[in-house]
Order: sequence, then C-alpha cells, then structure tokens
Amino acid sequence: MKTNTIKVDSENVCPEELKDASNVIRLGGIVAFPTETVYGLGADALDSEASKKIYQAKGRPSDNPLIVHIAEFDEMLSIAKVVPKKAFQLAEAFWPGPLTMIVNKNDKVPYETTGGMDTVAVRMPAHPVARALIKESGRMLAAPSANTSGRPSPTCAKHVLEDMDGKIPMIIDGGEVEIGIESTIVDLTEEEPMVLRPGYITVEMLESVIGKVRMDPGLMEQDCIGKPKAPGMKYKHYAPHGELTIVNGEEEKVVKKINELTDDARNRGIRVGIIGTDETKLFYRGDTVLSMGSRQDEDSIAKHLYQILREFDEAGVDVIYSESFQTPRIGQAIMNRLLKAAGHKVITV
Ligand code: TXA
Ligand code: MG
Repeated sequence: MKTNTIKVDSENVCPEELKDASNVIRLGGIVAFPTETVYGLGADALDSEASKKIYQAKGRPSDNPLIVHIAEFDEMLSIAKVVPKKAFQLAEAFWPGPLTMIVNKNDKVPYETTGGMDTVAVRMPAHPVARALIKESGRMLAAPSANTSGRPSPTCAKHVLEDMDGKIPMIIDGGEVEIGIESTIVDLTEEEPMVLRPGYITVEMLESVIGKVRMDPGLMEQDCIGKPKAPGMKYKHYAPHGELTIVNGEEEKVVKKINELTDDARNRGIRVGIIGTDETKLFYRGDTVLSMGSRQDEDSIAKHLYQILREFDEAGVDVIYSESFQTPRIGQAIMNRLLKAAGHKVITV
C-alpha cells in the first residue's frame, strides 16, 4: 500500500483539504493525524472492521483498547451507557484538551474498539486538524498513538512515516505537536475516580474540579508487577534499541556519575548516548549527547522526550544514560514514560 502524506497548515485548516482523508475514514480506512499530545492512527470508532485494521497496522495486542476521539460533547452521550456528573464537570474544565475519560459503553461501541471491555475511553482533542477531521468525516475516531507497538509515540509526521510507511493509506502532516506526551487517562466508572495514565492534566488539576482522585496503585510498582488497570500500561513501551539507564540525584553528582559510566563504556568500545539538558549538555562526552530542553521550561522537556528516544535509535548507540526529570508539574508523566523506556533501571547517586 502506498502511504500518501498531505501537508496542512494547522493554524488555518480548510475542510476542503481534508476531503480525501475523510473519504478514507468513511470507507473504513485509517488516517494518521496530529493531536495536541501525539499523532494518532484514526479510523471509524463504530466500525469493528476499521478498528481491527488499526491493531494490525500497529502490531498491537487486541486486548489493548483504543481511545474514541470526539469533537462535540453530545458524541460522548451517544456512546456511553451513563455519563456521570463528574464527566460533565471535567469536560467543562479540560475539553477540548489532553484528557481521556473512561465511562461505561453502550451497545453502539463494538468490542473490537474497546479490546473486549465494557467501558470506553473518550477524548475530545483540541488540535484543529483532529477536530476538523472528526467533523468533516462525520465519524468518531478510534485512535491510538500512531507508532508501531513498543516504539516511542510520534510527535511529528516523519515519525509516523518511519513506523507506518506502506501500512496505512494516508498521513496528515500538521507539523510538530504541542505537548509531546499522551493524554491523562481518568477512570470514572468507580465511585472514586482513578488516574490510569499520568499526563499533562495532573491529579491536582482534576481534584480542583471533582474532589478526591486516586492514582492507579499498579502504576507505582517499580517493576510493574502490580497490575495497572489500563491494559496498555502493562506493556514495556517506548523502548529504545540502546539500553537506557536513568541516573537520579543532585545535578553535579549525576553529571559526574554519567561521565564515569561513559568513560568506562567507551573504553570497552561501547557507543554511548546521553540525555541531558540545555544546562548540562556541554559537560558530557558521550558519542551522542541530546538535550531534553531547559529545566526552566518543563513543557519543552515533555515535548522532546519521544523525539530524543527515536534519535538515539537512528544514531545507533548501544547504551543510553539519562538524567532524571522530576519536574514540579508534569514530572510524574515524564518519569512514567522514561522509567518504562528504561525498564525501570535507575541508579541513585
Ligand atoms: O494522547 C492520547 O491519548 C493519544 C492521542 C492519539 O489521542 N492516544 C493514545 O492512545 O495515547 P493509545 O492507544 O496509545 O493509549 C491508550 C491507552 C492504553 O494504555 C489503553 O490500554 C488505555 O488507554 N485504555 C483505552 N481504553 C481503556 C478502557 N476502556 N479501560 C482502561 N484503559 C483503557
Ligand atoms: Mg500508545
């Protein structure tokens, strides 16, 4: 299959440009499209055959459910069994935006979309191209991140093409995404809401709107033997080819430790990648040194994480040493991804 890429100006989307993409969706095909978090692989959420194609293109286990993307709140009403009051409140506060809510599904939603679950994950993205595609196609879009299963999520169209070339008919290139890590997932099907995946919308932000919110205890387990409630969180995700280790501690000690590890590895002929920051990158002497951005700007750090993991794969390094990123607001979301990429290997100095 030939994969066509169409470029659009995200600030100025014209529905006419999305005509072909909408036709692909209406005929049960897949289109990759930008959202504000990461690129998604979209298909008609109510068409079981279309959902199956998504699993195939990603090489994703079929028990791992998809998020249904909507453009209007009424669409959530049309696929949920009941919409709890807290969903209305959260939608009012954070939609459109990087928040996914889990509610009980009704019969309209095929089990192929929800990986066999009786619940459905729903998100209203803020990205103008995503919104325009949902509206223009007249379909809600089931969309996982547009990477091959186990690879870092794509933050630009080039990443999508790396993974999906020849597997899907169309990619809409709307430039780089804004946030760079996936949406926060909150489960509203139980009395006390629970965050199943941390993201840009923090627990504190959710609590300011709906009161007490728990974090899935399965996420806290260092080695992930606790069972996370979102099926996707149990897989070893985002693994770069080079073996990644996080070095945690005071900045000066971390730099020293990473340099020691680097010298030792290079003496043995091992190629080393290092993840630092704008503040520290000049202190390192690895084969490839990449900066996550400035510690003064935590959004830039979230935004660069996946791109950096992909760059290391291209550079072909054997091991990667990374600083730790417990930034005040979205540090939990960043570290959740980085720890997974590292298979939870952490050295504390
Ligand atoms: O930011 C995002 O959410 C991106 C963009 C494209 O919108 N999408 C995304 O989808 O990250 P995906 O498929 O890569 O991750 C969805 C996660 C998986 O961990 C999955 O297990 C979980 O959501 N999930 C989906 N439906 C669920 C449900 N009914 N119950 C529990 N977890 C669910
Ligand atoms: Mg994903």
